[in-house]
Amino acid sequence: TPIYAVVPAAGVGKRMGGTQPKQYLPLLGRAILSHTLGVLLDHPQVAKVVVALGAADGYFDDLPEATHPNLIKVVGGAERADSVRLALSQVPAEAWALVHDAARPCLTHGDIDQLLQQCGDQGAILAMPVRDTMKRANSDGNIDHTVERALLWHALTPQLFPASKLLRALNQHQLNPAITDEASAMELQGWQPTLVSGRPDNIKVTHPDDLRLAELFLAQRSAS
Ligand code: CTP
Ligand code: MG
Repeated sequence: TPIYAVVPAAGVGKRMGGTQPKQYLPLLGRAILSHTLGVLLDHPQVAKVVVALGAADGYFDDLPEATHPNLIKVVGGAERADSVRLALSQVPAEAWALVHDAARPCLTHGDIDQLLQQCGDQGAILAMPVRDTMKRANSDGNIDHTVERALLWHALTPQLFPASKLLRALNQHQLNPAITDEASAMELQGWQPTLVSGRPDNIKVTHPDDLRLAELFLAQRSAS
């Protein structure tokens, strides 16, 4: 079965501030989105990459990847899940969709390989075990109790699911604000996706500080 990468890149980057969407900010001289697409387009098991862009995106066509023969562009939607839904319309029903945030430029082929290898029939997501002690607050903001950490993970991307099943799940739960990743939509369908332990440097560039961090991670790699 073919694997299609789906890249939601239609956000405005509100938390980053700035005048252009964060996926176009430079990282070691190349746009964040260019790094992200490069990793996916270069992976031997990724057949095509579908990228969802903002309706008035005036930056994408300047990226070197814009004319890549394996790249498909669509216009994204109001929420991340809408952008993923719209991109999935370009993915064949029998394919598997590997959904990855544009804002995670530090993804490695090693992590994609792990995800593909460990994925079962319920799909899989990259994730990271929680490191800190976790507290559950009560409504006045004080600690109610300590949550068992061994069972808690940070959900990352990519997330891998059969394209037609994922599209159906996202359509069904379209107005549900609790759907913040692909797995959450599949969980509501009764699926139990596999958690695949990924690298801690696969961060989402969200706040200005993350830019420096992502740059450091990428620079370290090209040095070694
Ligand atoms: N995204 C998208 N369509 C949207 C909203 C987000 O394709 N309507 C994408 C973003 O471009 C990003 C990914 O989803 O690659 C993760 O979202 P997030 O980090 O929240 O990015 P933004 O929504 O752009 O940032 P913010 O929430 O700070 O505005
Ligand atoms: Mg957002």
